[in-house]
Amino acid sequence: MHHIDIEVVEMTMDVMKYVIGRITKTDPDIGLAISEEELREKVGETVNSKGIGGLKAFELFKEVLVKHIVSIDNPRHLAFVPAAPTRASILFDLVTAASSIHGSYWMEGAGGIFCENEAMRWIVSLTGLPKGSFGVFTSGGTAANLSAIVTAREHWRSKSQENIHKRGIILCSSQAHSSVKSMAKIVDAAIVTIATQEALSKEDLSNAFNELSKEDQNSVFAVVANAGSTNSGIIDHMEEASLFCKQHDLWMHVDAAYGGGALMSDKVRDQFKGIENADSITIDPHKWFFAPYDCGAIIYKKPELAKNAHAQHGSYLEIFNQKGMEGFNPSDYQIQLTRRVRGLPLWFSLAMHGTDRYKLAVDTALDLAKKAEEMIKERDYLSMVRPISLSIVLFKRKGWTFDDYRKWTLHNLKNNVALVTPTLYEIDGTMESIARFCFINPETSAKDIAVILDSMN
Ligand SMILES: Cc1ncc(COP(=O)(O)O)c(C=O)c1O
Repeated sequence: MHHIDIEVVEMTMDVMKYVIGRITKTDPDIGLAISEEELREKVGETVNSKGIGGLKAFELFKEVLVKHIVSIDNPRHLAFVPAAPTRASILFDLVTAASSIHGSYWMEGAGGIFCENEAMRWIVSLTGLPKGSFGVFTSGGTAANLSAIVTAREHWRSKSQENIHKRGIILCSSQAHSSVKSMAKIVDAAIVTIATQEALSKEDLSNAFNELSKEDQNSVFAVVANAGSTNSGIIDHMEEASLFCKQHDLWMHVDAAYGGGALMSDKVRDQFKGIENADSITIDPHKWFFAPYDCGAIIYKKPELAKNAHAQHGSYLEIFNQKGMEGFNPSDYQIQLTRRVRGLPLWFSLAMHGTDRYKLAVDTALDLAKKAEEMIKERDYLSMVRPISLSIVLFKRKGWTFDDYRKWTLHNLKNNVALVTPTLYEIDGTMESIARFCFINPETSAKDIAVILDSMN
């Protein structure tokens, strides 16, 4: 298995040929999931004691399996938060894998970690956080949110002996991403959600805080603010949230997993004012920084607090702290020990293209949202649900129920038209099914939008 023979050489060529074909496709089929039973029937047994051979396995992947995977980079994939990795970053993902880099400690991964840190320095500069702030790449926004929550909770506990045995409380809006609630569960923190569909204000936070008992107020350790909520792109009032946090000595975490890319854009940058006061910020490069999956990032105003919370200690790890081995150790700042240098594909693409082209790509997505709004308003069977926020457009097809949206989504998926999914939004006190676009991919065109909107007629 570990020897080089003709089979390995041929397989390398086959893989490269496939890669060239795939990354030069501008309109890959969207792909449709089928059941596990159907897939098993199509591919048969693949793992047995003797192996089925690389040729056969690759053939099955190319001819069968890949057809049942949604191509997240299809320009008409506008559901959830899509992704559109640059071709350069995808290629360098291959290089990253081929280079077998252990990205946990400088001693092992220096050259790769150096590159990650170059990319990270630029991302941190976009946030406006003060000198000394820094971050690390994680497996995604969920891991970044967890890393921040653990850091915040440990910092709170370090402030008073009393806090050590208390269950901490986090305040956030009901628009916070599901991962915030889920990660709070992991650290056994309670969540107080503030019901709102709009941007969280200082007043909202104060009202929720004042409703708590004195004991609970003393257990609140963090606020999680949205900088681009997943459902509607809402940015909470950053400055007000930071004032509230300062007043009550709370950790301010900003979830900019989706919205973070918009920090690049002069068109919307002022909407983030106050983000520079955060204690930590989640940004997902695999969303609006055009990196391949999976690549998240967590940034801290005081990275040493993250190190206090996350650095692992073990007799086998002591060598990493010895003279001559020192350097930046990404594992000290987030939940994972062994890690790939997942910021490396982003670094290569940034180094190749320069940051201006990133900014242009983000602006293109913002313009596409505006264009979509115009096109919706031109069609009498459609109406906007709320003004666009960042690159998210919420609209509805007059007279449709959830079942109509479901059938439409499935029909477009089955016919390789688009992947656009419905969501729920409260309109006049009632939760309604509506349609939602999220633009990331700069290769989406006005024609793509028209095709999708016309499919609702
Ligand atoms: C605002 C926000 N936070 C967190 C996440 C979770 O990120 P990930 O899926 O990378 O773990 C998402 C994912 O869409 C998100 O939109």
